[in-house]
Amino acid sequence: MEIIIKNSPEEASVLAARVIAKLVREKPNAVLGLATGSTPVRLYQELIRMHKEDGLSFREVRCFNLDEYVALPETHEQSYHYFMQQQLFAHIDVQAKNTLVPDGMAKDIPAHCADFEEQIKACGGIDIQVLGIGSDGHIAFNEPSSSFASRTRIKTLTEQTIEDNARFFEGDETQVPTHCITMGIGTIMEAKMNILLAFGEGKAEAIRETCEGPVSAMVPASILQHHQVAKIFLDDGASSKLKLKDYYEWVYKGKPEWQQDQ
Ligand code: PGA
Repeated sequence: MEIIIKNSPEEASVLAARVIAKLVREKPNAVLGLATGSTPVRLYQELIRMHKEDGLSFREVRCFNLDEYVALPETHEQSYHYFMQQQLFAHIDVQAKNTLVPDGMAKDIPAHCADFEEQIKACGGIDIQVLGIGSDGHIAFNEPSSSFASRTRIKTLTEQTIEDNARFFEGDETQVPTHCITMGIGTIMEAKMNILLAFGEGKAEAIRETCEGPVSAMVPASILQHHQVAKIFLDDGASSKLKLKDYYEWVYKGKPEWQQDQ
């Protein structure tokens, strides 16, 4: 794991965007795994800026999203389809046929999930997967106790996640869907690089457990300790409970500039 601590979500997001931009420049048909939630919004804004001002093209890029609520139509403002359109896809030159978000309205969910996995494989696998983290340590919607070998499938949200996400549904927990389709942890672990972003003190405990605790299905993100290229971008708040915070900062400071967007 590489732990990168910046003063603000802004600085951390810009740096993470540089890692993605570097890949897209080197490999125009790169395969990106994308996340929703409040955390990656600033990262997407930076990618949009790079597209508009620096000519970064996503024309051949293929995108797969981590998850989607079950039974929420694409047009619903809280669906992840809608989120991706609003926050990224509508503002860059990615082709609609190359953006795949799990279909929460699929009639045959197991067949849809199997097809989703097949499509990732057919593209040669995900080059960079963007991740947020839940306050309970989940990645995508893989809640605590999810199998590390899991693939894309239907899951039930925990009460904690429903409570956390109620803010997007007028604070009304009863409006939050109870089920979702999510990439599995096994799927995420096959990405060539994982970039996890976490900001604010509300994520500090989950980050401490992810980076410095034992690898456990009770903290799904902790499996990233076993990933070859996992970069964890944090702000001060999210890194505040790390025992080795000074060490991570010292390591990062010692990196030559050319290595900082690798
Ligand atoms: P957030 O959600 O970015 O809105 O905090 C992250 C997650 O639940 O994975």
